[in-house]
Amino acid sequence: MATALIILGAGMGTRMNSDLPKVLHQIAGAPMLVHAMKSGAALEPERTVVVAGHGADLVEKAAKAYDSDVTIAIQSEQLGTAHAVNQAREALKGFTGDALVLYGDTPFIRPETLAAMTAARLTHDVVVLGFEAADPGRYGRLIMQDDQLDRIVEFKDATDEERRVTLCNSGVVAADSATLFDLIDAVGNDNAAGEYYLTDIIGIARARGLSATVVRCDEAETLGINSRAELSQAEALFQTHARADAQSDGVTLTAPETVFFAHDTVIGRDTVIEPNVVFGPGVTVESGATIRAFSHLEGCHVSRGAVVGPYARLRPGAELAENVKIGNFVEVKNAQVAEGAKVNHLSYIGDAAIGARSNIGAGTITCNYDGVFKHKTTIGEDAFIGSNTMLVAPVTIGDQAMTGSGSVVTKDVPPGDLAVARARQENKAGFAVRLFEKLKARKAKGS
Ligand code: UD1
Ligand code: CA
Repeated sequence: MATALIILGAGMGTRMNSDLPKVLHQIAGAPMLVHAMKSGAALEPERTVVVAGHGADLVEKAAKAYDSDVTIAIQSEQLGTAHAVNQAREALKGFTGDALVLYGDTPFIRPETLAAMTAARLTHDVVVLGFEAADPGRYGRLIMQDDQLDRIVEFKDATDEERRVTLCNSGVVAADSATLFDLIDAVGNDNAAGEYYLTDIIGIARARGLSATVVRCDEAETLGINSRAELSQAEALFQTHARADAQSDGVTLTAPETVFFAHDTVIGRDTVIEPNVVFGPGVTVESGATIRAFSHLEGCHVSRGAVVGPYARLRPGAELAENVKIGNFVEVKNAQVAEGAKVNHLSYIGDAAIGARSNIGAGTITCNYDGVFKHKTTIGEDAFIGSNTMLVAPVTIGDQAMTGSGSVVTKDVPPGDLAVARARQENKAGFAVRLFEKLKARKAKGS
């Protein structure tokens, strides 16, 4: 059955106390909206509509960065969840199949749970995702009648007896798309909040002789984020799961509680990750690599057997081939480092290509930026770059070439040549002793 996703994210999120729309606050390096889109992506939706309101431009940009096919529907006034879903009607014109409503601030719904909802749709017209709440608080209550969901009552409108119900509404709903919009047409706003409640569609459906049921999930899955405190709790929850997943995938984490993953981090089997390592978005580490303590990786690829760190920084576009060594206080950005090459100490390698087995001496810097443009440094195979070489790009160092330490290299070095680009050393006989005596004498006179 074809599926369309409707993801609600127009709310202001007042309790975030932020200029940024709530759904763009990040968990594991991705906006919570993207987490919701990723959950829904498991259903391989034919169309995805994000309903945006507050900060719609920014929401659109973030949604399209993840999936360029997404449609943005604008809800300029937040009149309630049914009104929000109704804004997706235009975008779903001509679509036949199921519509699934998700919230952009509810990032942890599992694909398996959505699959269970799809399965329940085979026997019921409307399917709601519910959960047993430890503390039902202000959640909408699911009122059952035998095995049918009879209606949903919002906390504000509930009687004391209804408030004692602990089966709560997550907000996720699935129904045939045409049916959903028909039901929404009948929703009014005569309630305690004066809003158009999406939850009213259940009572309306039942009155029309349609069937409704509940699929239950764990409360943690439906965790919605409303404040910065909840955001950090969600981050912690994500990290706990990511660490456990990495370990069961065969990754050694010496101190798992100190390692932070991004939503899309991929790590191969038998890789070792030492304490205090942070993964930003877009990192792939192959099997059998070692990421040593206090390293920060983002947008990079580390191949089999490579060793990174301690205290290394891999920035976007860093591409390390097999058995590469990147040592302490080395930063690599937009650079391909070929098999077996070593950059062991205190270097900056940016906008560069380093050939296989080359050795980059301590303190070497690719001077890639002239203040306006970025330029490339190319180093061949088996080259030896002396310590503290400044490679002023654009510049090419040939295969098996060398640079003398302390050189400022501004011209290409042909293969096999040695470039020395520094002042020639001069020794002045006995000068140091004479100078010391003069200085000590001056100190004794007290001047
Ligand atoms: C809603 C449900 C409630 C459920 C709870 C779960 C309704 C009426 N109530 O209540 O039964 O237990 O979620 O968290 O549906 N939004 C819009 N436009 C609007 C209103 C809301 O886009 O006009 C979006 C919000 O940005 C948010 C989501 O819809 O992502 C939920 O809205 P919110 O106001 O938080 O609903 P609750 O009152 O929590
Ligand atoms: Ca809410």
